[in-house]
Amino acid sequence: MKVSVIGAGNVGASTCYLMIAKEICSQVVLLDINRSIAQGKAIDMMQASITLGTKTDIKTTHDYKDIENSDIVVITAGIPRKEGMSREDLLHINIKIMEEVVLNIKKFAPNSIIIVVSNPLDIMNYTAFKLSGFSKNRVIGMGGILDSARMAYAISKRVDKTKDIKACVIGTHSEYMVPLLSHSFVYNKAVKDIFDKKTCDEIVQETKNGGAQIVKFLQTSAYYAPAASICTLVEAIFNDTKSLLPCSVWLEGEYSASGVSIGVPVVVGRNGIEKIFDLPLSKEEDEKFQESVNSLRDSLVIVDEYLQNTNLN
Ligand code: APR
Repeated sequence: MKVSVIGAGNVGASTCYLMIAKEICSQVVLLDINRSIAQGKAIDMMQASITLGTKTDIKTTHDYKDIENSDIVVITAGIPRKEGMSREDLLHINIKIMEEVVLNIKKFAPNSIIIVVSNPLDIMNYTAFKLSGFSKNRVIGMGGILDSARMAYAISKRVDKTKDIKACVIGTHSEYMVPLLSHSFVYNKAVKDIFDKKTCDEIVQETKNGGAQIVKFLQTSAYYAPAASICTLVEAIFNDTKSLLPCSVWLEGEYSASGVSIGVPVVVGRNGIEKIFDLPLSKEEDEKFQESVNSLRDSLVIVDEYLQNTNLN
């Protein structure tokens, strides 16, 4: 199994390291326009793998030909969000990067599954889906797994030391995300039935603020939890686990939304997204989800205008 990671920055390199440490695949290709960074980090990782006794091979490159025969291509190339910068501020810069990356994937790894990580996530996944021409099951946006981990963390701080927490966040990977208190559980009991309203509101707020809080401390965006979330997705595909994971996917009427890519629970297996799971939402949850969908519209107009001027053949 071969995974190519585009972008050897914090998220890309952390993802490679975790894949090597867990021996998720036989080969990792790490591609960056700055090959020196990719090379330095890869040598460090190979030396770590000797100590760890793991066998995954790692190759660094700035030549897209090296991603040939990849089963999965993870896109982390882009400019990370800085404090005070909204994800949408990144749009104009990252859309151009996405175009270059996706057209090369189309050329050199036409049978791969694409995992998009670059922000603004749902817009970038939409862009990748449109530019690639791949079927929607093969273009997966990784945002909801991370947001759900952040929600589980917020819940975990309020309960005794159990890890038996399942959290579910749908909607955009942005401040318009929709943490679902009715579909998040501690020992099979819904979070909304465990805590009072004030605590539930705090959990939602901490979940939404999870990324920004890290940016405030680090002056750059998170990478360990994003890497763990990417690996979860890669493992679900390679091991054909049919796991239920919230991912950004092109919708055609599901959850009353069309023509957008947005986070919903999906079943992930060897074919990528194998099913869009129909989760019953309360009226309030549905309204929040539709707000989330609508928050994407202005950016999608910008992407569509850009794509109209791009030769997709
Ligand atoms: N082709 C290949 N690599 C590129 C390109 C390109 N056209 N443009 C930028 N890169 C590389 C940069 O050289 C850099 O090494 O992408 C890498 C991005 O790494 P970081 O700046 O460390 O960003 P990171 O924290 O890894 O985040 C990457 O993931 O979570 C999102 O918001 C985040 O969009 C950002 C992405």
